[in-house]
Amino acid sequence: MIIQYIPWLIAVLTLIAVVWIVIVSWRNGISPMPTSRQVRQVVIQEVNRIPGYADIIEAGSGWGTLGMDVVKHCPGKRLTGIENSLIPLWTSQCLTWLSVGFNRAGAVIRTERGGQGNSFKGRLRFIHGNIYTCSYAHADGVICYLFPGAMTRLADKFKRELPPGARVISVCFALPGKEPLRTLICRDALRTKVYVYAF
Ligand SMILES: C[S@@+](CC[C@H](N)C(=O)[O-])C[C@H]1O[C@@H](n2cnc3c(N)ncnc32)[C@H](O)[C@@H]1O
Repeated sequence: MIIQYIPWLIAVLTLIAVVWIVIVSWRNGISPMPTSRQVRQVVIQEVNRIPGYADIIEAGSGWGTLGMDVVKHCPGKRLTGIENSLIPLWTSQCLTWLSVGFNRAGAVIRTERGGQGNSFKGRLRFIHGNIYTCSYAHADGVICYLFPGAMTRLADKFKRELPPGARVISVCFALPGKEPLRTLICRDALRTKVYVYAF
């Protein structure tokens, strides 16, 4: 009897999830739209230019695809994603948790074969927070894909809080009143710009 209601339950839950995402996106001024593969490659290249074991904050981490790719391709970097939209946040946390499990299984096999295991464990976390109130004081780098209003609000905060030498890597939108160190143009259809700043 109950089984016949399962498709309806799934449909209702999906509708609630979509409406919830839309409401939070409307309040935030931006949806959790992920960056394309080509843009992620440019961000990864720039994160790899930050020397040493750097702490990276992703301001607005959405579904977690950018953060996961950065940690996967940037050895020694640790990333904290800050997100306030719960459904994308929970998705990113589940994906990280699954990857840690799969990586651990893979690492055992690789280690038995003499190779090295590479895991997200301890290097990647996605947390619930607000990008306008969280602290950037310990970040060696910030990555973000936001919108012009957010960049205006964050410009002063970055200036006050970021340690000297920290990098800000911003997809699409420039920081007002600050000259970028370089501006890169991605090979995607939109020729997306990535702005890199040094503080
Ligand atoms: C365009 S998405 C980018 C997602 C991810 N960084 C990427 O590049 O794939 C921007 C994200 O910022 C989040 N966001 C916007 N305002 C926020 C705030 N005040 N606090 C936390 N997250 C916020 C949105 O919910 C959204 O998921």
